[in-house]
Amino acid sequence: MRKRVLSGMRPTGRLHLGNFSGALENWKRLQEEYESFFFIADWHALSTDYANTSQLRDFTHEMLIDWLSAGLDPEKCTIFIQSHVPEHAELHILLSMITPLPWLERVPTYKQQQQELKEKDLSTYGFLGYPLLQSADILVYKADYVPVGIDQLPHLELTREVARRFNFLYKPVFPEPEALMTEFPKIPGTDGKKMSKSYNNAIYLSDTKDEVWEKLRTMVTDPKRIKRTDPGDPEICPVFGLHRVYSSQEIIQQVDKGCRTAGIGCIECKKWLNNALNEKLGPVWERRANLATNYSMVKGVIDAGAKMAHEAASTVMEEVREVIGL
Ligand code: TRP
Ligand code: SF4
Repeated sequence: MRKRVLSGMRPTGRLHLGNFSGALENWKRLQEEYESFFFIADWHALSTDYANTSQLRDFTHEMLIDWLSAGLDPEKCTIFIQSHVPEHAELHILLSMITPLPWLERVPTYKQQQQELKEKDLSTYGFLGYPLLQSADILVYKADYVPVGIDQLPHLELTREVARRFNFLYKPVFPEPEALMTEFPKIPGTDGKKMSKSYNNAIYLSDTKDEVWEKLRTMVTDPKRIKRTDPGDPEICPVFGLHRVYSSQEIIQQVDKGCRTAGIGCIECKKWLNNALNEKLGPVWERRANLATNYSMVKGVIDAGAKMAHEAASTVMEEVREVIGL
């Protein structure tokens, strides 16, 4: 039996290169090796955005298209939407019975997020339970591995604690899932800060070839390179940061040398980066073009995904109900 991998993302809308290289490329590798479940956590989105749900469907749909364009393959992994699989909610409520409140109150993201999102009223039951819903997402498939970023480690830790408590109170049903942390380089945005939707500095998977070039063309460089003959320092230039991730070793060396000696100009340097990105995104653009005209195919993917996920989750839930005595 292959080990199981599961991960999810909240539907926050279009994905950028940072999400692509940070999560999706990793998921693509995992789908080859593991029995993989990837889902869009639309209930989790409600925990902070319950008051404004107008974009929820569109965001979910956009994310799905991004995943498929990026190369997640529904033949190889199960792709679904959380709210289509009610077993997540059933396990959540059962776990809520055995989870001491202080376990949730001390999860660091709880107070942090309340601080950061002051404009929203997050003193809700659902928001406190966010990490427990995540535990249910994971345990309802008995997932072995959960690929996540470092910010999610406290949620994984809680999941293991809850699994242990359940196993102790009833019968050993749940394996303790492990986080799969992958090292990936930081992806700088067009202004040199970390690439992020909220900084308005992102290159999106849904950007066209022309849009990508326009973003690169106007991208921040080493400010000391005013004239073509001024030497620069690639270490402080975000264009170089992107070369490091997307260009060949050979090009990286040429840029490093050419920049320091003023042997190349910034536009030339950006053109090389553009070539690398075209190569990377070419297959993504191609898949997206096919998907755009094929709504029924996308619908087919999530319906089939919900069915597969439901089958896997309901097997576990039968066992859960049995050992609790329901
Ligand atoms: N909380 C995760 C995030 O914000 C999303 C998520 C929800 C998730 N349920 C999950 C991730 C289960 C991994 C496993 O990124
Ligand atoms: Fe940045 Fe390239 Fe210009 Fe150097 S040559 S400053 S690395 S864009």
